[in-house]
Amino acid sequence: MFLTDIWYFGALSSAIKPGAFKTVTIAGQPILFGRDQEGQPFALRDICPHRAMPLSCGQAVQGADGKTLVECAYHGWRFDVEGVCREIPSLTAEQKKQMELGKIRTKSYPVEEAQGLIWIYLGEKSGAPARPAPKLDHVGQSQPRLNVVMNFDCPLDHAVIGLMDPAHIGFIHRQWWWRTARSMHEKQKAFGPIKHGFSMLPHVPSSNSFLYKLLGAKPQTEIRFELPGLRTEYVLVGGRQVTGFTAVTPVDEKNTKITIALYWDHPLLTVIPDFLLRRAITIFAGQDRDAVEAQQKGLRHDPKLMLIHDADVQAMWYFKLKKAWADAQIMGRPFVNPVKPTTLRWRS
Ligand code: FES
Ligand SMILES: [Fe+2]
Repeated sequence: MFLTDIWYFGALSSAIKPGAFKTVTIAGQPILFGRDQEGQPFALRDICPHRAMPLSCGQAVQGADGKTLVECAYHGWRFDVEGVCREIPSLTAEQKKQMELGKIRTKSYPVEEAQGLIWIYLGEKSGAPARPAPKLDHVGQSQPRLNVVMNFDCPLDHAVIGLMDPAHIGFIHRQWWWRTARSMHEKQKAFGPIKHGFSMLPHVPSSNSFLYKLLGAKPQTEIRFELPGLRTEYVLVGGRQVTGFTAVTPVDEKNTKITIALYWDHPLLTVIPDFLLRRAITIFAGQDRDAVEAQQKGLRHDPKLMLIHDADVQAMWYFKLKKAWADAQIMGRPFVNPVKPTTLRWRS
């Protein structure tokens, strides 16, 4: 159902506060995010192994050694940030000697934090992740300057291919500051494989978008897609960058979370008030959401997708990448990227 042995986007750093828990569902797994005594993020399966109370109903407490413990709300069992049980308040001194607390545990997940993003590794096998968490280029160690989080009431695949689909732009996003019906023209873009996905290789972006015109000079754009659902758009202009990172994260079989984080050091975006920028992103992503949610109604009757050349080739690649990833996990062999360098043509 969902890809495993892969890093998922977990949460924005700013959403995980010290001393508090945040509970999220990722790929059907209930997960508690918190921060330890040093401020480092941790992630546990949000279920108490005693009698299944969500651990997030409890509280963060400090153990005798000053380390952060998660205390279950129901019977006060305490777990360290690795998920190991450290205390069962109901045990008598005698019972304590007989019980091996270290054997009681809830699953803990590897997490990494960088660039204002917290990554979580959902692995089938226990042990360290097979590879480091994804990292954005061009933004250094900076934090997102703006973010928008949205829920799409649709399965992951439709949210992903809805975001990478070039042919919908002139229809779903028809607005004066982006595209108009008259601005449609033929395009060709070179694509190539990258580690776990593909890239619309660096190019001078479409002259029919007003926002790009505002950036001035000659911007260079690259759009990357990587499994499990990460889209990054880099706009480089005169040594400055504007980076739009979109994480499409499956909540469960029917729901998907979209997190958009924007980084920039281009002065123009600093001049545009945050609320305007946020509004524009919310309108834009809201149009995608409305489209894929409406599509769900039709898919109930006609679930087969017709994918055509060349406008839907990125969607075809997405399904091929997913299959290649899943096959590699099942067969226990390295992932081989099925995407070959190609130029795609379409009108938008
Ligand atoms: S259910 Fe958590 S301590 Fe009992
Ligand atoms: Fe869109």
